[in-house]
Amino acid sequence: MTLSGAVVVVTGGASGIGAALARRFAAEGARAVVVADLDAAGAEAVAGGLDCPVRLGVGLDVADEEQVAALAARVAEQLGPIDLYCSNAGVAGSPGLGTDQDWARAFGVNVLAHLYVARHVVPAMVARGSGHLLITASAAGLLAEADLAAYSVTKHGSVALAEWLAIQHAEAGVGFSCLCPQAVNTPMLARAPGESTTRAAGAALEPEQVCDSVIEALAAGRFLILPHAAVHEYERQRAADRDRWLSGVRRLRARARGASTATD
Ligand SMILES: NC(=O)c1ccc[n+]([C@@H]2O[C@H](COP(=O)([O-])OP(=O)(O)OC[C@H]3O[C@@H](n4cnc5c(N)ncnc54)[C@H](O)[C@@H]3O)[C@@H](O)[C@H]2O)c1
Repeated sequence: MTLSGAVVVVTGGASGIGAALARRFAAEGARAVVVADLDAAGAEAVAGGLDCPVRLGVGLDVADEEQVAALAARVAEQLGPIDLYCSNAGVAGSPGLGTDQDWARAFGVNVLAHLYVARHVVPAMVARGSGHLLITASAAGLLAEADLAAYSVTKHGSVALAEWLAIQHAEAGVGFSCLCPQAVNTPMLARAPGESTTRAAGAALEPEQVCDSVIEALAAGRFLILPHAAVHEYERQRAADRDRWLSGVRRLRARARGASTATD
């Protein structure tokens, strides 16, 4: 897909990876960038700083189907067909097994939000034979998040849904990509506890480095976007010997806990 002249929507755009993507799409020549976030003021602030002909910051709860449908209709009516929709908003949730409330929130934001986009944005793309949906999942959706059960499970769900959509609409001229980074220096990572296994798994990338991978993958029309190249090798190891891979993750988790105790 080409970004020059494109109409783009980025959810979770008030912060971290979403804010960096919005800035990068504007810099790549998008005609209109819509920054949507639960944090409406934050979305407006990011949109206000964009350098592109049309920029819009809006409040949106991605886990509310009516709001997703209303935004899709508003953008199509006011700005034209959506060329690129980045379903990027995500929540990490609580450590451990979590409460039912944690699971409902994680499922709503990390899985159902993408379903609502599939229902209310993708059909128009399929009808006109063009457009691209980028779903931000996580390396946790390919491997595991050793600390956060709801995050690990729901990110697997988001990868599965992205794959399902890509299979379903292969002939339609619509593109699908699934972004699966490991640690990225954003407020979400900053909120993670000291003993975070994700933090211990390797150096965090900057959001702008993630954007480089996204731009390259969009130009190539590639589905899987892995800003951390090592994730590909971890996936291979996981498929080759699941017990060995699980032992490795347990060791990493123990190291993360040990390192945290040592610095407390
Ligand atoms: N930071 C990382 O290490 C990392 C690694 C892998 C994947 N990810 C994924 O990248 C995406 C962006 O995360 P980030 O690191 O930039 O986090 P972040 O916390 O900096 O930004 C997430 C944004 O999503 C918004 N949001 C949360 N719930 C929402 C809702 N219901 N409706 C609309 N917006 C909502 C928040 O207000 C926030 O602005 C997430 O899907 C996250 O799971 C992050």
